[in-house]
Amino acid sequence: MTKDRFEETILLTIRPEIAGDGQGIYRVNAEAFAGAGEAGLVDKLRARNGFTLSLVAIRGSQVTGHALFSPVTIESPDGNLAGLGLGPVAVLPAFQRQGLGSLLIDAGIDQSRQAGYPFIVVLGHPDYYPRFGFLPASKFGIRCEYDAPAEAFMIVELRRGALAGHRGTAKYQPEFNGV
Ligand SMILES: CC(C)(COP(=O)(O)OP(=O)(O)OC[C@H]1O[C@@H](n2cnc3c(N)ncnc32)[C@H](O)[C@@H]1OP(=O)(O)O)[C@@H](O)C(=O)NCCC(=O)NCCS
Repeated sequence: MTKDRFEETILLTIRPEIAGDGQGIYRVNAEAFAGAGEAGLVDKLRARNGFTLSLVAIRGSQVTGHALFSPVTIESPDGNLAGLGLGPVAVLPAFQRQGLGSLLIDAGIDQSRQAGYPFIVVLGHPDYYPRFGFLPASKFGIRCEYDAPAEAFMIVELRRGALAGHRGTAKYQPEFNGV
């Protein structure tokens, strides 16, 4: 005799944040980074519409992951180039290493490219971000305004040649100072 089995399907959705996601986003960042710095940064940026794209991973009805993209400008004597910075990126510890971070980052890169942005920078682990196409920003003559190891500051061109002639310093939104 066979026994019927009920298998619960838990849907995973990647979508832009909507009203009501704020608390879940705060929790994801606070738990992933084991502190309030990044979580508070996201709240401060939201309070003045200071970010461009905020993506959440929703599992069931729970926010389990988050990726933020905010304006970054490469300032050089030849002129400024406006693009985006990725970060923070966070996944609840219990859901890490299941592909959520990758889904969020890939979706954010696709949407940023479709929206016409020329580049995305990230300050993060040099073993993680190259899989999404990020290269050391130093290869393009682009520095981070913050004191960070050169290999941790990376950039992805969203259309070929977008960075040509734009060597300089990448400037984040003021809320990033001190985080
Ligand atoms: C980094 C983070 C967002 C990745 O999300 P995730 O859902 O766990 O990642 P994915 O499942 O898509 O990818 C897993 C891969 O990322 C790698 N990875 C995860 N965190 C990493 C880290 N901090 N450094 C280097 N590699 C990392 C793992 O080695 C794994 O690679 P493997 O599959 O080859 O073993 C998540 O681990 C996290 O929230 N970490 C704490 C907060 C943080 O450090 N954020 C990033 C700041 S730059």
